[in-house]
Amino acid sequence: MIEIRKVQTANGRRISMFLQSQERRVIDAKNLTLFPALIDPHVHFRTPGAEHKENWETAAKAAIAGGVTTVLDMPNNMPACYNRERFEEKKRLIDEQLKRVDIPLRYYLYLGADEHHLEEIASLASEIAAVKIYMGSSTGDLLMNNPDALDKAFRIAAENDVMIAVHAEDEKLLQTRREQYAGETDPAFHSQIRSSQVAVQALQEALSLVEKYGTRLYVAHVSTVEEIALIRKAKYKGLPVYAEVTPHHLFLTDEDYASLGTKALVNPPLRSKADAAALWDAIEDQTIDTIGTDHAPHTLEEKTKPFGQAPSGFPAIELYFPLLLNAYHENKLTLAQIISLTHTRPQEIFRIPRNEDVVLVDLETVRTVDDAELHTKVKWSPYQGKTLKGWPRYTIASGRLFDVQAL
Ligand code: NCD
Ligand code: ZN
Ligand code: ZN
Repeated sequence: MIEIRKVQTANGRRISMFLQSQERRVIDAKNLTLFPALIDPHVHFRTPGAEHKENWETAAKAAIAGGVTTVLDMPNNMPACYNRERFEEKKRLIDEQLKRVDIPLRYYLYLGADEHHLEEIASLASEIAAVKIYMGSSTGDLLMNNPDALDKAFRIAAENDVMIAVHAEDEKLLQTRREQYAGETDPAFHSQIRSSQVAVQALQEALSLVEKYGTRLYVAHVSTVEEIALIRKAKYKGLPVYAEVTPHHLFLTDEDYASLGTKALVNPPLRSKADAAALWDAIEDQTIDTIGTDHAPHTLEEKTKPFGQAPSGFPAIELYFPLLLNAYHENKLTLAQIISLTHTRPQEIFRIPRNEDVVLVDLETVRTVDDAELHTKVKWSPYQGKTLKGWPRYTIASGRLFDVQAL
């Protein structure tokens, strides 16, 4: 049994509580605030095939340090996870790694959509978080930009009550724009190449298939004013559309290329201040349902290659909660909104069974991000040197107490 004494709740009450556990522990929580543990609906933990960037041993520590006890992992692995055999092999590898660090991280896996393996959707329907469709290419070789295959995937998913998650960038337009900007060496052109229109075009195509088949659609990493407008309209119509925003599209903008250079590369790219403002408004009116980190680590060596060779994405899971808690102190979010975005909505949308996992936070702790202290294998982040107020202190996962300072 774990006894948590006199903890503050997010709505300002003070309670004591007991949690089922093999351990007998008493936590004096007078200075701590209780949250349901976070669910991160969008991570790339890199197993199998890119474990030099991250694996589930390092990533599980990063997750627990960030107050996250459930993750939904993307299928753009090497090899890509698009059939049962690969799905099961991936789970086996993950379980092995989690066992090695003895961390009971809860996880669900996305199935990658591949036009030659769409029948796998029906067979794996009850075991997967969702089907992930890359409408435009990003990291890895998963890509489905053939309209007939796309139509078929949305139909099969609807028939099997499976959600489709999209990386909505239009491959054709992307290729045209890539050619247009060929030879540019400034990484800031990434945001021009992967323009708002690139995202909008793909999203419109996905939304028309939702209208056609009623497929549940999860729009990953929404990043522009225009996408928000489309999603808002779809929600008004009553379509089963859900939207995710990442921390980097909330807290970074295209002005950060100046200091981060190629490290700032991410898909979809960093956007304007006006786009970020629209995302904050969309949190306010609940057009945005969830925050997913899109934790997508690449090594510093990879990230500092010249523009054109440097990969897109960065690690985020460990700073996910501190960034949001800091935003609370800046009056950008309420604690109730944080709980909804990081726990309640992901749980509802992905139909994740309830559990007792919690995180105890010291809302008053002020710390400056030091990349060297991060648990992610790549040991860097785009937030180095940022001072954040509000950090997790204890994470309780499946009845196991983790002191985040001792991970
Ligand atoms: C992701 C990755 O590296 O796996 N990169 C990224 O820039 N977000 C892939 C993705 O989510 O598109
Ligand atoms: Zn993506
Ligand atoms: Zn991603």
